[in-house]
Amino acid sequence: MSTDEPEILVRNKKPIPCKVILVGESGVGKTAIISRYIKNWYNDDQPSTLSPLSLKKNIIIDGYNIDLEIWDTAGQEQYRSIASLFYKDALICILVYDITQRKSFENIQSYWHFSVTENGLKGIIIGVAGNKNDLYEKEEVSEKEAKEYSDYINASFKLVSAKCNTSINELFDELVKKFIGSEFMKKLIPQYISDEDNKLWEKRKIKLENNDGSDKDDDNQKKKKACC
Ligand code: GTP
Repeated sequence: MSTDEPEILVRNKKPIPCKVILVGESGVGKTAIISRYIKNWYNDDQPSTLSPLSLKKNIIIDGYNIDLEIWDTAGQEQYRSIASLFYKDALICILVYDITQRKSFENIQSYWHFSVTENGLKGIIIGVAGNKNDLYEKEEVSEKEAKEYSDYINASFKLVSAKCNTSINELFDELVKKFIGSEFMKKLIPQYISDEDNKLWEKRKIKLENNDGSDKDDDNQKKKKACC
């Protein structure tokens, strides 16, 4: 690389938008997961969500600069039809259940998954999150059963705890990586990333991989989990 080539930190300066939606029964912890992920904040007395609202987070994974628009929906039965309007252009959907409430797991199987695949985009990336894993002594759904169901519907699966900040970042990272490898991304790339910028970034990546790996240490530090 010639010395006057610009240092490129991301492949795309203009972020690629990606809409994410969380669905599941009332009280499973959708709002808590989003608050933890975006603001690293948790409230033991979280009021119920009455109408959908979104929060944004910019992340960079493998040089892809992505703006996540994360939608929190209301789980109460009377608001279900409103939630389905928000599936339309979502690229990622997280089906949330509470590991201490078997009914909430049965409902993602009998209602939420079906509703998302009916109303959402073909190929929508799906994750299953078993929340409140800090209460594992009261578990009503085994990890094995939830994992088997997730494999069956071709979804990523994570046991998480918004309260203790367990596996929340990992859940989103895994789904965003799936998005990066998806058909959605193939269509978006030409609008956001020039061939030239992509090549420059790949060169920088090779340079980084050959150096002392200090960037990787930084990433590991950021991922260190808080504990209850
Ligand atoms: P709706 O808005 O009614 O659809 O509910 P929701 O799915 O958004 O649930 P919410 O985030 O409001 O959480 C419901 C209750 O569960 C709140 O009192 C939270 O404090 C609690 N909660 C959420 N996440 C966790 C968790 O990881 N562990 C424990 N122990 N409690 C949690």
